[in-house]
Amino acid sequence: MKIKYQRIGDIVIVKRELSTEEIKKIVEKTKCKTILKATTHITGEFREPHYKIIYGKETETIHKEHGCLFKLDVAKIMYSQGNIKERERISRIGMKNEVVIDMFAGIGYFSIPLAKYSNPKKVYAIEKNPTSFYYLTENIKLNKLKNVTAILSDNRDVSLKGDRIIMGYIHKTHKFLDKAFSFLKEEGIIHYHETVAESILNRPIERLKYYAEKNNYKLESYKLYKIKKYAPGVWHVVVDAKFCAYT
Ligand SMILES: C[S@@+](CC[C@H](N)C(=O)[O-])C[C@H]1O[C@@H](n2cnc3c(N)ncnc32)[C@H](O)[C@@H]1O
Repeated sequence: MKIKYQRIGDIVIVKRELSTEEIKKIVEKTKCKTILKATTHITGEFREPHYKIIYGKETETIHKEHGCLFKLDVAKIMYSQGNIKERERISRIGMKNEVVIDMFAGIGYFSIPLAKYSNPKKVYAIEKNPTSFYYLTENIKLNKLKNVTAILSDNRDVSLKGDRIIMGYIHKTHKFLDKAFSFLKEEGIIHYHETVAESILNRPIERLKYYAEKNNYKLESYKLYKIKKYAPGVWHVVVDAKFCAYT
């Protein structure tokens, strides 16, 4: 039977149990140091994965993507291959002289590539989980970035102002929209992520309009992008939405 696997750095993740023969085959083919088997889905507000080690023992690695280095412990922290195109897209937008606030920075999934390629003046990368925060700070150093400041905190306890807000989270993200508007200058852009059923694809736009008006902003323009199929009939989408404050 064909073995489907995902590779993060020199670690391989599989979805089913493997025979000794199959483990040998994968190790020969990929030269991986460890094989993990996913046990349950990514869960909780920290978006933590659950794995069982079926070969090797080390779970820390450095993954390379679009010329960026991401150090992480694969057994403790998620790394979504499905978001690869979005990580690249966000890094090519162009953010010259902008202050960017990444509200759910993780290990720097968006902050690292956008700081490296999109030319922002400053990126504030906020992360609540101390393990992810540790790797975020490591990744800022690894990628030699001088324009990123990592903040270990719940984003709701941080006060800042920015031109662009990244909301790379899909766990009731709309509940953080009031906070996102409090971060936004008089004009700016929010990149709003949500998981939504195909039949109600307009829901993120309605939510953005609702929270904009509530916070005295006008939704000026927007574009919705489908990132990946999240579940049958459900999309992970991102909306690039431009706002300006009512005066
Ligand atoms: C894992 S990332 C999302 C994945 C990412 N967009 C990608 O491309 O793979 C979400 C991060 O937000 C963090 N987080 C959740 N709630 C938070 C909060 N209130 N303040 C700051 N960070 C938070 C989680 O700990 C997690 O590291």
